[in-house]
Amino acid sequence: MFLADKILTILVTGANGQLGNEFKILDGNFPYCQFLFVGKEEVNIQDIAALSKYFSGHSIDYCINCAAYTAVDKAESEKYFAHLTNAEAVATLAKVCNKNKTQLIHISTDYVFDGTATSPYKETDKPNPVSVYGKSKLQGEQLAMEHCPSTIVIRTSWLYSAFKNNFVKTMLRLMDEKESINVVNDQVGTPTYAADVALAIMRIIKSNKKQGAPGHLPFHKFGNHQLV
Ligand SMILES: NC(=O)c1ccc[n+]([C@@H]2O[C@H](COP(=O)([O-])OP(=O)(O)OC[C@H]3O[C@@H](n4cnc5c(N)ncnc54)[C@H](OP(=O)(O)O)[C@@H]3O)[C@@H](O)[C@H]2O)c1
Repeated sequence: MFLADKILTILVTGANGQLGNEFKILDGNFPYCQFLFVGKEEVNIQDIAALSKYFSGHSIDYCINCAAYTAVDKAESEKYFAHLTNAEAVATLAKVCNKNKTQLIHISTDYVFDGTATSPYKETDKPNPVSVYGKSKLQGEQLAMEHCPSTIVIRTSWLYSAFKNNFVKTMLRLMDEKESINVVNDQVGTPTYAADVALAIMRIIKSNKKQGAPGHLPFHKFGNHQLV
């Protein structure tokens, strides 16, 4: 069978989160893809035995890692847990992916930068995380690429969707409840629709498939609506 005809098996880890849920919505729209969705209860990415067992039972072409510790503020007092999920567990997942010839697509964040730039960040800009969360995510990127060199890292920012809590949903709720609302005006960011990130990732997979081989693409960073 030519690779172009091959049905790709795509594992989504952390599948019950905001981004993971967007892939569930896409399921069925890509006839050349078979999705497998696992939440933390089914496969905890910290657990090498659980990961190895799951991978040995399936032939997985891509693993899209949506699993993460995402409580940015709480991470300041929970450094250990942020590091465990966002760095150490990513290294574990990357090792298992590499061993099973699975291409890892790992989601990261603009928090790897210090936020002092006055123009949009580029993939080549030097990271300089200032928060515990940002540091744990940068370490996760580095460990993913170290242990699974074909890893694609995608840095997104300020995700919003119909799922879970996010800035857009909070603003919509407050606008319903109050006559006027107060919001800080000293933060600049790029709210990014999670569905767009999911579609952009599927575009990468599709373009890899067209090229007939797993891609070894450099960093990708998607802001809102840039690639979709
Ligand atoms: N949300 C944002 O604004 C934003 C911005 C930039 C980048 N990102 C990145 O985008 C990715 C997806 O974010 P998201 O908003 O979808 O996050 P989310 O809604 O918090 O989802 C993360 C999911 O990962 C699960 N999880 C946590 N630890 C795990 C583990 N050890 N093993 C398996 N699953 C685990 C969580 O389960 P529990 O809830 O049960 O713990 C949750 O379902 C993350 O890498 C995040 O860092 C997010």
